Amino acid sequence: NKWFLGIDVGGTTVKMAFLDEEAVIHEKWEIKTDLTDGGSQIVADISNSVAKKMQTLNISAERLIAAGIGAPGYIDVKNGIIVEAVNVGWRDYPVSAELSNQLGIPVYADNDANLAAAGEKWKGAGDGAEELLAVTLGTGVGGGIIAENQIVHGFAGLAGEIGHITSVKEGGARCNCGKTGCLETVSSATGIVRLAEEALAQDTVSELQALKKEGEQVSAKDVFDAALNEDKLAVSVIETAMDHLGLALANLANSLNPERIVIGGGVSKAGEVLLDYIRPSFDRYTIPKISRETSLHIATLGNDAGVIGAAWLAKQNGLEEAGSR
Ligand code: BGC
Ligand code: NA
Ligand code: ZN
Repeated sequence: NKWFLGIDVGGTTVKMAFLDEEAVIHEKWEIKTDLTDGGSQIVADISNSVAKKMQTLNISAERLIAAGIGAPGYIDVKNGIIVEAVNVGWRDYPVSAELSNQLGIPVYADNDANLAAAGEKWKGAGDGAEELLAVTLGTGVGGGIIAENQIVHGFAGLAGEIGHITSVKEGGARCNCGKTGCLETVSSATGIVRLAEEALAQDTVSELQALKKEGEQVSAKDVFDAALNEDKLAVSVIETAMDHLGLALANLANSLNPERIVIGGGVSKAGEVLLDYIRPSFDRYTIPKISRETSLHIATLGNDAGVIGAAWLAKQNGLEEAGSR
């Protein structure tokens, strides 16, 4: 049967997987993201590692039909160009052409969160939803909007950049995008850590102070664990972070009326408890009918959502292209 390669490029690792048409993962693996030289080595690293994998698994070149690649930034999807991916270093980078040259198969590119949304729709918590909003909470906050069964790209491909919705109007922290007060600065894993560090600097009583004394970095997971123990500081940090997220999601739901909202990314490992924090503010800021009829879900594909969505993109476009040849 036919296989598709899904690639998910992140600031620390590049995840890859071979999937078939039924979304079954046959092999998945990852390599470190080489950030030197504006990310100029990444494509060569990917193609070397794919070639090696194919050799070890004894896969013939004919089996692999196409590849999809997701990157954390603004993508010109029509031309397969990464307009800007700050955390990786790519700028005006023709990733599809470069990678396609090396792999010898067509390569399609899209935003990482758009593909995570597509992955969840294909095989995860978004299964069957024609109107879907997916958000990824990780180093950044990513968004994917699916309307009438299609990923919404907008005029220049930037639709769904929900991490850069303004959440803090005055005195917000600086964001990678150049603005201040973005949702990403308060609701991402990085944002949660920053809020916690700020609160801890006030010398407030918290079990997290012990970590600080040992000179350790507080992680978003530490904050969630402490919140589960009813640590006041941790609870208040998570409440703040998720209140901002609930407001942003409510505004989006009021404008898009999705059937389902799926929350993924590293932070979603906290599980269903996350929804208990988001739901109150979501309900408070949505039109009553929307609040009643929109369901909130934790993503089910975990770290695989990106590669699965990327393979889906490869399948969608690759089969069409093969058919028209
Ligand atoms: C970027 C998005 C990306 C998200 C998650 C944000 O900072 O602007 O393009 O989807 O991070 O990686
Ligand atoms: Na997006
Ligand atoms: Zn921003």
